[in-house]
Amino acid sequence: MIVALADFLHELDELAAAGGAVLGGAADQAALETARVEFLGAKSGRLKTLQKGLGSVAGSDKPAAGKRFNEVKQLLEAALANAQSRLASADAAPSGPPLDPTQPGPRPTLGHLHPLTQTIEELKEIMGRLGFTVADGPEIEDERHNFEALNIPADHPARDPLENFFLATAGATAGSPDAGLPGGRPLLLRSQTSTVQIRVMEQQPPPVRIIALGRVYRPDTADATHYPMFHQIEGLLVDRHVTMADLKSMLRLFAASYLGREVHIRFRPSFFPFTEPSVEVDMSWGDRWIEMGGAGMVDPNVLRAVGYDPEQVTGFAFGLGVERVCARRHGVADIREFYKNDVRFLHQF
Ligand code: FA5
Repeated sequence: MIVALADFLHELDELAAAGGAVLGGAADQAALETARVEFLGAKSGRLKTLQKGLGSVAGSDKPAAGKRFNEVKQLLEAALANAQSRLASADAAPSGPPLDPTQPGPRPTLGHLHPLTQTIEELKEIMGRLGFTVADGPEIEDERHNFEALNIPADHPARDPLENFFLATAGATAGSPDAGLPGGRPLLLRSQTSTVQIRVMEQQPPPVRIIALGRVYRPDTADATHYPMFHQIEGLLVDRHVTMADLKSMLRLFAASYLGREVHIRFRPSFFPFTEPSVEVDMSWGDRWIEMGGAGMVDPNVLRAVGYDPEQVTGFAFGLGVERVCARRHGVADIREFYKNDVRFLHQF
């Protein structure tokens, strides 16, 4: 069958138009590959199929048909090559604005110590300058260190299981020394750092001049000045001729150093089983007073419980709430803020 030259050229033109559009419009490598197979595929691409039709063109028309065929072939191959380089450079190009190597790099966000940790470090430094070294004690305590050696008798309300976090270990109940525990001792999360006073005095003869800083636990309801887990700074000084005047001067010096001279402190008579006399220490806040801690002269019974001679030495002790002094220093109205872990709050310290 003879194919008319005009029909053949018309088919070539159509192929050139369709192939140029599809190859030129391919959006990605996969689409381009599909288009290449359709138009330029070596086995059954549309150009190959037309090439087979070339044999059916009349002999005298063959040069013209062949010439046009080659033009269309070159046109499609050029369209393929263009599309390939267009997609390759699109892959390599960065999507954002061009890189400017003279700009400074992004600054990494640096964290810092939590305000309570900063406070603890500063309190250690202030007390260090006053000659106090840091002592440590366990957060899980026995009743001897948390109560008995501190002159807190078995029927004292502070020992009520509901006022403390006793550990629920096999068969142990508060106040039963023969409970089924290793060593038969009920254990609790310490409710005050005064435990460390006992641990230090058990270990060394007088004189003693230590502070202890750490977590304590009480089943208190959280409010603006209370949290069930909080920190205390304990101080203990035992030596010859230590008096209440030394305690008061020391606490005034401490408050002036950490809170500033404009914050006043006052002492109120109070009672602690392990000090006699005892005081509560308040700090001024506007026209209010906020309790910051307890203090007093170490009770002779405590000195005797650790083997010291109350005829030879006297001492003072104090225990202050770290959250409260930190809040006063920075004007934080609610100590629960310290435990929310909101970086917008923490950033400010
Ligand atoms: C005591 O804990 C005594 N051990 C202090 C002491 C030490 C007296 C040495 C004498 C000699 P108190 O229970 O008052 O005392 O607590 C001391 C301070 O801890 C309080 O004044 C307060 O600042 C802080 N505090 C007490 N309970 C909480 C709580 N739930 N949350 C935050 N701070 C608290």
